[in-house]
Amino acid sequence: ARTRRYTFNVTMATVTRLCVTKSVPTVNGRFPGPKIVVREGDRLVVQVHNNINNNVTFHWHGVRQLRSAWADGPSYITQCPIRPGQSYAYDFRVVGQRGTLWWHAHFSWLRATLYGPLVILPPRGVPYPFSPKPDREVPLMLGEWFNADPEAVIKQALKTGGGPNVSDAYTFNGLPGPTYNACAAADTFRLRVQPGRTYMLRIVNAALNDELFFAVANHTLTVVGADASYVKPFAANTLVISPGQTMDVLLTAAAANPSSPAAYAIAVAPYTNTVGTFDNTTAVAALEYAPQSTAALGSLPLPVLPLYNDTGFVANFSANFRSLASARYPARVPRSVDRRFFFAVGLGADPCQSRVNGTCQGPNGTRFAASMNNVSFAMPRSTSLLQAHYQRRYSGVLTANFPAAPPVPFNYTGTPPNNTFVMHGTRVVPLGYNTTVEVVLQDTSILGAESHPLHLHGYDFFVVGTGFGNYDAANDTAKYNLVDPVQRNTVSVPTAGWVAIRFVADNPGVWIMHCHLDVHLSWGLAMAWLVNDGPLPNQKLPPPPSNIPKC
Ligand code: C2O
Repeated sequence: ARTRRYTFNVTMATVTRLCVTKSVPTVNGRFPGPKIVVREGDRLVVQVHNNINNNVTFHWHGVRQLRSAWADGPSYITQCPIRPGQSYAYDFRVVGQRGTLWWHAHFSWLRATLYGPLVILPPRGVPYPFSPKPDREVPLMLGEWFNADPEAVIKQALKTGGGPNVSDAYTFNGLPGPTYNACAAADTFRLRVQPGRTYMLRIVNAALNDELFFAVANHTLTVVGADASYVKPFAANTLVISPGQTMDVLLTAAAANPSSPAAYAIAVAPYTNTVGTFDNTTAVAALEYAPQSTAALGSLPLPVLPLYNDTGFVANFSANFRSLASARYPARVPRSVDRRFFFAVGLGADPCQSRVNGTCQGPNGTRFAASMNNVSFAMPRSTSLLQAHYQRRYSGVLTANFPAAPPVPFNYTGTPPNNTFVMHGTRVVPLGYNTTVEVVLQDTSILGAESHPLHLHGYDFFVVGTGFGNYDAANDTAKYNLVDPVQRNTVSVPTAGWVAIRFVADNPGVWIMHCHLDVHLSWGLAMAWLVNDGPLPNQKLPPPPSNIPKC
């Protein structure tokens, strides 16, 4: 194992997309940011210098941070923000994971431009468990471009209590492609391939607020990994990737054929159920066969994508994921459970004047909110939760009373209750070291059923069950897959359905679990687990690094 060192200079840089030139936060002047490459077992040190006029933190999305919670990055959860002019070194090991993860800013909506891939190669000499071996690997970050300043977009939404303005384009490695307008023609991502060769696309959904369909015209993809865990390979024409998720897929270029087109369209479009409040555009990139010349990109036939609200397609696609569960890559699925939780996940509202004075453009003159078990998460401001936990100074910062089930059960996927107002609080669930946890995440129909990509920091969890309608413990538990369930760090709670996850709380620290649609996170769709130290020295959280920022 080696130590890999990177420097992130956070600076404003000029970027032009969709004919709009503006100054955006970048890492080292690049958008998207630099690729980080490590081998499994390496130590990674990223020295961050904040040279923009805003706070920033960085999160290494999906890295387990085993006993290194101080490096996890969510602002006010594991650290106070790095203020303008300040520096902080993230220092951690990447253990027991291999595949594609990513890094992104974890303060407000800065991740709109501050993100990049984090590739974890197997240890030297260890082959991939799938074949053929890729001839080339290509990170592919799917994102969203806003002509406006994303910080202004979310500030405005929080001020008015309404929904935010949606993005103006989806992007491939920051490039929107030719479908939007003439200006975008130069901004097209081109993947050049050689006939007969195999490519591994390391795909990340870095979009702020949209789950995405992904397809390549006339090409079948083979999925071999997700969220830095291998999966049993399966073929798919269209992928569904939720914000936060990654997918490693093989694409084999067709044999040389002079009568075939020289280029094919790669397309991305949203999957959503929130009618009228999403960016309903399609982004296009080009798969180009060398050495033939480039076709007119704007006229490439698009792959056929499902309808924007095809929830059935999404459920069928998700059902394909199985972990390898092999001798070399065993699935250590918890068979028994120490603590069971049932979280009702969804939107809600605040009374008009409850938080800030001003207009209220949310549903029925209220303000939008989002919650789990009707608690809308309030970010602390005076310290980080991890700091409070380390010093055992909880008073005024957090309360350890996050409910294990909704206070008032209701028909989650039926007619919503009349009172949709949420409670506010910085509430956490304390867990003893090594507790085996099951969480059933149940979507609610309050203000419309909608899928929520839930991301857990500090852990990979097993997705042991899922279904539509209300979770029914008596029948649904018996159908769990405890043999080869997929291991992930982000799973979508299906629209008008539920998903059950299991993990072992073997990583001490404070770990946020939140919806990876940024607007829902801003509205409070989050909670945190407070995982206590174990009795042995190697089961304890070390002290904070001396240079950790103060609030
Ligand atoms: Cu990718 Cu808490 O985030």
